[in-house]
Amino acid sequence: MAGDLVVRNIGRLTTWHGPVIENAAIVIRGGTVEWTGADRDLLPGRAAAPELDAGGAAVLPGFVDAHTHPVFAGIRANEFEQRASGASYREIAARGGGIRSTVRSTRNASPADLVKAGKRYADWFLRNGTTTIEAKSGYGLTLEDEVKILRAVQQLNDETPLRYVPTFLGAHDIPTEYKSRRHLYVNLIINEMLPRVAGEKLAEYCDVFCEEDVFTTDETWQILSAARCHGLGLRIHADQLSLSGGAKLAAELNTATADHLEHTDATGIMALKAAHVQPVLLPGSVYALGSNDYPAARQMIDAGLAVVLATDFNPGSSPVPSMPMILSLACTQMKMTPGEAISAATINAAYSLGRGDEIGSLEKGKRADFVIHDVTDYRELAYFFGVEHPWRVYASGTLAS
Ligand code: NIG
Ligand code: FE
Repeated sequence: MAGDLVVRNIGRLTTWHGPVIENAAIVIRGGTVEWTGADRDLLPGRAAAPELDAGGAAVLPGFVDAHTHPVFAGIRANEFEQRASGASYREIAARGGGIRSTVRSTRNASPADLVKAGKRYADWFLRNGTTTIEAKSGYGLTLEDEVKILRAVQQLNDETPLRYVPTFLGAHDIPTEYKSRRHLYVNLIINEMLPRVAGEKLAEYCDVFCEEDVFTTDETWQILSAARCHGLGLRIHADQLSLSGGAKLAAELNTATADHLEHTDATGIMALKAAHVQPVLLPGSVYALGSNDYPAARQMIDAGLAVVLATDFNPGSSPVPSMPMILSLACTQMKMTPGEAISAATINAAYSLGRGDEIGSLEKGKRADFVIHDVTDYRELAYFFGVEHPWRVYASGTLAS
């Protein structure tokens, strides 16, 4: 039957639930984990399904990438070159580049174009061992274009082995045509976009880019409060380029996550802790922008927060789909241990998406999303960087890459 499989001869099985199991096996039934344990304890009846020999390699849960912007048209290699020559992300945005440039190409793209590009990126995520991503809209900024993007996310979920959790990010930027009448754009989001997106069940979460020059804390509060009334979960781009009050607001609103947090101070961290908001840290964007403002991961972990790591995959600030690259940055630049980093990219990320019972670890009853990596020790995933570690990637017990 599809989704039935026994993987044997696993050198080290890291379920991210119990202890590491040496010389292990895993039994998958109907796409779900049925049993994990030492290979020698595998009962003969259990091994009836097709068998795969892992050749002594390490097996881990698939990565869960809880912050991505994976549906867009065009790329911004030109801006990358401008930044290499000294221009800043904000300067480029102020000249009409940045998010607005991707909005122009995405508005001109057909749904089929978006899905075609999205499939290419889905393949990149899978190849790097990611089996679930959160996917934000936000490059349309009109009702129809935002819906077009969220429908493309649905189609990608249906037509690729990657699982998508859709987030509505109509508040990614003020579109050029509303520049001098920003309150009208906020009204459009609240009165037209949110009812349609929620009514058609096109998203599970709503996000806002809360930042100087983008959405103020007041506007963010209005949009997220309205989203909550429509039953959407809340996430927020907070304190990325400046300490603009995003983390404090996330705590006041009890959002599921506060993302970025490059400029969040100790007060903000304590507020997140008190309100049980999970920080989602995105070191790929710090790196790609050539900045050194990595978020204070150690302080957050020491405060007892269940930190999440994600790629922030997007065509501007973070063109990286690879979670192993993010693990490397987390360890070298943010002083997280490899174990903390992998927890942040699997089980913590799953909880941040309301899917802690389904994915993020390999335990009985969870979806059989797992990766056979060409390493013997999980620490190698962060240690050897710039390498595609996965040998085989399985989603719901079926070969996905
Ligand atoms: O998370 N901060 C806002 N949004 C993205 C950047 C998107 C873009 O540059 O296209 C981010 O970094
Ligand atoms: Fe982002």
